[in-house]
Amino acid sequence: MAQETSIEPWEQRRLPRSSNAPGLDQEALDRGRVEPRHVIPQVRPSNWTLKVTAAVTGSLLALFVIVHMVGNLKVYQGPESFNAYAHWLKVAGYPLLPKMGLLWIVRGVMGTSLILHIWSTLLIRYRGYRLRGGRKKPQLRAGSFVSRLMLWTGIVLLLFIFIHILDLTTGQANSGFQAPTATESFAYENLVHSMSQPLFAVIYMVAMGALALHLVHGLWLIVTDLGVTGERTRKIWQAIAHLLAVVVALVNMSIPLAVLLGVVS
Ligand code: HEM
Repeated sequence: MAQETSIEPWEQRRLPRSSNAPGLDQEALDRGRVEPRHVIPQVRPSNWTLKVTAAVTGSLLALFVIVHMVGNLKVYQGPESFNAYAHWLKVAGYPLLPKMGLLWIVRGVMGTSLILHIWSTLLIRYRGYRLRGGRKKPQLRAGSFVSRLMLWTGIVLLLFIFIHILDLTTGQANSGFQAPTATESFAYENLVHSMSQPLFAVIYMVAMGALALHLVHGLWLIVTDLGVTGERTRKIWQAIAHLLAVVVALVNMSIPLAVLLGVVS
């Protein structure tokens, strides 16, 4: 006689929340009431945890990029203003915090956010890939052109962050680098030295293009991942996402361009 394969609600409730073989109730299986294919394996961390992690860390990273862009604008006020701002970043919070204290807190939060962001987004992506049956079902690949570029724009940004820190913070990639002293910073001179080389100016501009694409879709995904469903709110947020992405990229791109053209020198 054919085995009964549907799961009764009470059978589902009997499935343990966690065991060595997650979701498998051996007794129900033995009695033929439940087949392994009926059991939705419990995955840890849950997709919900991953989505919220991606959204929260993405928001923090986007906030950093926006604040950083506002600070970068000081380059147009000249060397004194830009260098004073770069020095202030190192002593902000003093004497409540030690010198560099606030800077290291921000570095810690941003570094952790970056690691968690990469981990959660790659895992979401991998699970989607597995659910679609790997390469076997490319026709099920979802998303717009920009959304499919997220991995590549993310890789470009990661490479950019490494180059950028070696260029303007630690100096190994900048032959004219002047290290800051206890009282002074030379961020303006370092920036001009770097971006007056066409190769570096192009690296910065390409990275800002990748940043715009990553931000426009990333900012949009934040509301989706956080479960916002209202049509009006989603439309408004989509417009804000586009505006922020374009403004951040254009303002940042203008700096290497201004150095190349001799406007900032
Ligand atoms: C053309 C655009 C940009 C310019 C002109 C610029 C400029 C600078 C400068 C001058 C510094 C060193 C400040 C100092 O001396 O303390 C710096 C540091 C840094 N920038 Fe940028 N930046 C740009 C874009 C970006 C972007 C898009 C990101 C992130 C994706 C970024 C991430 C960082 C990080 C992580 C640091 C190191 C902060 C630290 O730990 O001290 N920058 N940037």
